Amino acid sequence: SLPARVRIHEVGPRDGLQNEKTVVPTEVKAEFVHRLAAAGLDTVEATSFVHPKWVPQLADAEQLMPMLGDVPARLPVLVPNQRGLDRALALGAREIAVFGSATEAFAKANLNRTVDESLAMFAPVVAAAREAGARVRGYLSMCFGDPWEGAVPIEQTVRVSRRLFDLGCDELSLGDTIGVATPGHVTALLTALNEAGVPTGRLAVHFHDTYGQALANALAALRHGVTTVDASAGGLGGCPYAKSATGNLATEDLVWMLNGLGVSTGVDLGLLTATSVWMAGHLGRPSPSRTLRALSHQ
Ligand code: HMG
Ligand code: MG
Repeated sequence: SLPARVRIHEVGPRDGLQNEKTVVPTEVKAEFVHRLAAAGLDTVEATSFVHPKWVPQLADAEQLMPMLGDVPARLPVLVPNQRGLDRALALGAREIAVFGSATEAFAKANLNRTVDESLAMFAPVVAAAREAGARVRGYLSMCFGDPWEGAVPIEQTVRVSRRLFDLGCDELSLGDTIGVATPGHVTALLTALNEAGVPTGRLAVHFHDTYGQALANALAALRHGVTTVDASAGGLGGCPYAKSATGNLATEDLVWMLNGLGVSTGVDLGLLTATSVWMAGHLGRPSPSRTLRALSHQ
């Protein structure tokens, strides 16, 4: 069976843009977020409060956030440490996300920390965010495979997931950073997490489409009862610190499938498509989303 409604956690302005070489003007980013919300996306991950040298594209978070005050959507932002949290809270962020790794290699590449050190870095951040009344999402990257370490054992992913929940995360998004997951693996991981005491209702899924499996993986997760799915308008995305990470599951592809299945999302596909076409114009290249191309005759 399938859920009646799915919440799409739109990551285009953050995961989508963070890997783009061309620096997008802050006004364009602000319009992107406004248009995504107007298309019916009720959660739009807006930016990151990371070190500006690590992700130069999102170095304008301080300028962007005040331009989003009237956006009728939840606007989570990425925060790796206390400095990031201070910056985000000073700008009125109500929802943050910390981002851990199931593997040592990616923890080092992405956070300059071991897995233990990164969890130690997050612990006071999660506590302080909750104290401030902010909702906390945890991300876990490399849940299925890692470009340096290869296949990631399910027990390893479950272990780090449990630790992120123990820190106080409200929700955990399971990241297939390099897009190597397949549907059977998704179902097996979700089942193992349930057996370890994690309820499906607190899980989200975050697929990248490197091997063309993202939509099939999302369907496997929905069949398991997951109701929050991350996606990126036009299939933008990738991670600058993960070799071979390509775009996220395209929001258009997800909405097309869910519309066909009769699962409601609240998203207007016409407005969304127009937004992604407009954004592709700013980035100077066509979108990889098949649905977007079909609907926009690109
Ligand atoms: P570090 O170099 O170890 O930093 O980086 P540090 O703690 O040693 O601090 C060094 C300097 O940076 C200090 O300045 C800090 O103040 C400053 P100094 O005192 O030397 O002048 N600093 C900061 N400045 C601004 N904002 C901050 C901040 N933190 C420290 N927040 C750090 C550690 C975590 C900061 C760095 O590794 C980093 O920024 N990493 C972010 C990488 C990133 O954003 N990756 C992409 C997002 S994750 C992703 O895409 C995966 C996901 O989509 C899920 C999936 O697909 O799997 C979520
Ligand atoms: Mg990602």
